[in-house]
Amino acid sequence: MTTLIKNGTLVTADAEYIADILVEDGKIQAIGQDLGASADQVIDAQGKYVLPGGVDQHVHFSFEFNGAKVRGFESSKAAAAGGTTTVIEFVNQIRGKGLVDSVEDYRKANADGVAAVDYSFHAVMTDPRPEVIEEIPDLAKAGYPVMKLFMAYKGMFFHADDDAILKSLLKAKEAGVTVMVHAENADAIDVLQRQLIAEGKTEPYYHAVSRPPIVEAEATRRAIYLAQLADAPLYIAHVTCREAVEEIAAAHSKGQPVLGETCSHYLVLDESNLAKPDFEGAKYVCSPALRTPDHLEALWQAINQGWLNAVSSDHCGFDWKVQKHMGVDDFRNIPNGAPGLQNRLEVLWTYGVEKGKISRQKLVDVFAATPAKNNGLFPRKGSLTVGADADIVVFDPSWRGVFTVDDMLHDVDYCSYEGMEKIGRVEQVLLRGKQVVKDAVYVGENGDGQLLQCEPYGLLYQQ
Ligand code: URP
Ligand code: ZN
Ligand code: ZN
Repeated sequence: MTTLIKNGTLVTADAEYIADILVEDGKIQAIGQDLGASADQVIDAQGKYVLPGGVDQHVHFSFEFNGAKVRGFESSKAAAAGGTTTVIEFVNQIRGKGLVDSVEDYRKANADGVAAVDYSFHAVMTDPRPEVIEEIPDLAKAGYPVMKLFMAYKGMFFHADDDAILKSLLKAKEAGVTVMVHAENADAIDVLQRQLIAEGKTEPYYHAVSRPPIVEAEATRRAIYLAQLADAPLYIAHVTCREAVEEIAAAHSKGQPVLGETCSHYLVLDESNLAKPDFEGAKYVCSPALRTPDHLEALWQAINQGWLNAVSSDHCGFDWKVQKHMGVDDFRNIPNGAPGLQNRLEVLWTYGVEKGKISRQKLVDVFAATPAKNNGLFPRKGSLTVGADADIVVFDPSWRGVFTVDDMLHDVDYCSYEGMEKIGRVEQVLLRGKQVVKDAVYVGENGDGQLLQCEPYGLLYQQ
């Protein structure tokens, strides 16, 4: 099966030009002007942008919060519909089991034959026994070279203390495994939360009050110092505020290999959403919390400076009617996380490119190319080059509308960007050459995705 994408404007992380792309056997076979090849299928991309399929390095299809579980891999078709052709999801280590076994058992039971896009995993260390620390190098061999530790979430089984983080950093660097942290001071949050609840401040808005920027900045700085002590690279997940960015920038300027990501919602939504009446604010409870508008600007700048090198969705498919309502009397019980798997590209285009915050090259960089590099998948993923997987998005910049849950395939009862202006839309998507979105309609199926083998130390290649 060959496909020719004709006359589109190709956008990569460092260039833009009009060319045709010939796809054969799931790979990009040729790129050039007027290829003229006779293909089985021709897609006319005149007036459209042609981008590499997105790589979302931070999604959740198994996260649980106080017994509430997010939507599973069945909902990964939302990724394809939004132009994301690779997802990397977090798998909690099961107590008593190893890191690799936890991922492999989860993968076989939940992802293989179900994922609608290509996939890999980050192991989350929850049980840092000495033998588990010793096992870290095996993650690289198994193709899962980025692991996560949660500095936040005191009292939950996946919370990690400094002991676990330092030991992980020391062991990880031997094997080219990148340690990623969720940087928030769990104890400080706990103190503030208890105080607020004692004062009767139970509504969703107080979620943000209980975890202000300084608790994120403190943990970010602590993790950076621990990484310095271990002489190991460090990656900060979902950075939300100016203070945390400043910590990363300072480390970066000293030559320390520390980088981070932010997420689409932190770039366009602010904490006023948490104050929406009738418990609507619960839809926006995620951690770290949404910030005041001045932080949004700092994040866009950090992207342009390269301190934040990827924009993820941190997709978490909890519904509002039942699951979010677990915290109707106490914001601490609202499951943390918001859906966004389908929206990353269109949010970045509308509020990044169209508003002049980032260039189209930067969009491709943070949406596809650099997340692929971070995870040892580049240039197979995240690039438009001959020999790369034919994961390709044709994007129509002339479309005008709004974000709405009616268009979402994520199987959750709300859209985080409901009613917000949307400029441009994902029109065609190829996943390794197979068309999974046709004329803005999802035509793929669960099981289209394949497991990816990630190479170690993607982060270091970028220093
Ligand atoms: O609120 C969030 N981000 N939920 C998902 C779990 C995490 O912290 O990444
Ligand atoms: Zn997190
Ligand atoms: Zn997350």
